[in-house]
Amino acid sequence: MKIIHRWKILTSVVALAAANTVLAQEAPTYSRDVAPILQDKCASCHNPEGIGPMPLLTYEQVRPFALLIKDRTTKRIMPPWHLDPNVGIQEFKNDMSLSEQEITTLSIWADAGAPEGDRADLPAPLKIASGAAWQLEEQMGPPDLIIRSAPYDVIANGQDQWWTPDMPFEGLDKERWLRAAEFKPSFPLGKKVVHHGHAVLVPQNPEEDGRRSVALARYGVGKSWEIYPEGTGMRVPTDGHIAWNLHYFPVGAEGTGDVVEVGLWFYPDGERPEMETEGEAMFRVDGLNGMARGQDIVIPPHGYQVLQGTHVLDSPAIIHSYRPHMHMRGRVMTMEAIYPDGRKEVLSQVDRYNHNWQISYIYTDESQPILPKGTVLQFSSVFDNTANNPINPDPEQWVVFGRRGVDEMNHAWLGMTYINEEQYGIAIDQRRASQETLRVSQ
Ligand code: HEC
Repeated sequence: MKIIHRWKILTSVVALAAANTVLAQEAPTYSRDVAPILQDKCASCHNPEGIGPMPLLTYEQVRPFALLIKDRTTKRIMPPWHLDPNVGIQEFKNDMSLSEQEITTLSIWADAGAPEGDRADLPAPLKIASGAAWQLEEQMGPPDLIIRSAPYDVIANGQDQWWTPDMPFEGLDKERWLRAAEFKPSFPLGKKVVHHGHAVLVPQNPEEDGRRSVALARYGVGKSWEIYPEGTGMRVPTDGHIAWNLHYFPVGAEGTGDVVEVGLWFYPDGERPEMETEGEAMFRVDGLNGMARGQDIVIPPHGYQVLQGTHVLDSPAIIHSYRPHMHMRGRVMTMEAIYPDGRKEVLSQVDRYNHNWQISYIYTDESQPILPKGTVLQFSSVFDNTANNPINPDPEQWVVFGRRGVDEMNHAWLGMTYINEEQYGIAIDQRRASQETLRVSQ
């Protein structure tokens, strides 16, 4: 802690003066300063079984990448976290971003020649979970129920592939309330080729159930699990079938019989949580007002397009996560709340969207927006079809709506729980009380 504090002073006061002698004396070392950051923010992917291209667990592994690490972290490309740190809510359950101070430490360390330092300073080695393990297992124990997709033969090369088997839903003898779900592609193949997917339960009797579909789990690279806030759950009926919707993207590796699994964790038998959630619901930013979906997406070559979509909440609601979805030209998506009293507030803004990642920004229980009935949710998206967009496959093209990555889409997935006025009152009171506690304790 003391060292970090010294850094703060050093970086803010001295670094700008480029005092090389001070840097030489004080340069951070791998063992003492860098390894803890990499363990905390990088190792979950950069390990031999993770999705990162190289492991970053030892000095020998990290040393050759020192300058590349500096480059990717100062540009905020790594870790993948594309949220604007300067506006909107900043407290998330799954925040993997680096602080300014951590970025500076990595950067000064790389510039100083990436010294190893004293191995005695190393933090205890991490226990890395196997690539095939459930990520939630450590926290939640093994899943109560696992559902599996029908096997799929993965081709090595070619265009996007869609696999949409329908499977009976089995394993529950009475209605249960879902507390958490994890979507797990196979390891190692599935982790590379499953780009995104949905496992949606279609109830046997939609009329009786009151719902046409129950979205158990939705997945994208960077988003694989969901834990609903305490007291919130999704009602899961006993009978129905699972409509799988899996998007495979060939990456040069083939395999037969690939199976995706979804793990489900329920509230204890007989326990009914206070609030019923829909899970992730789609909020479109395209083709509203009676237009066909996506009909308004028309991005000119070497140009930009800005689109807005608004949704009025006809009951109070709590948003527990925000996951923008666009494709390769998508750059920005802002979610604002316009309250019934006219106040307007940016809730969250992703300003460096990257289609290779589908990050769900999961608010903490204390930060999740609690919105009154009549709130307008306004989404604004910016598409960049210029050559400045680093993942633009071809700025010469007109771009319209479509399922392929080279076409566009424009919507957000919001973890939504609609509540009644009484629940709204309680939630607001609890929020005030926790803010008061926070204020007093500071
Ligand atoms: C959620 C998983 C994940 C996390 C967390 C993560 N990375 Fe990565 N990293 C990847 C993947 C996947 C790639 C390759 C694709 C890409 O560049 O987007 C990558 C690429 C990189 C590259 C470029 C490698 C190359 O050869 O081009 C560097 C450097 C890097 N990561 C460093 C880091 C550092 C440092 C951290 C932590 C501060 C970190 N990453 C955190 C998944 C991750």
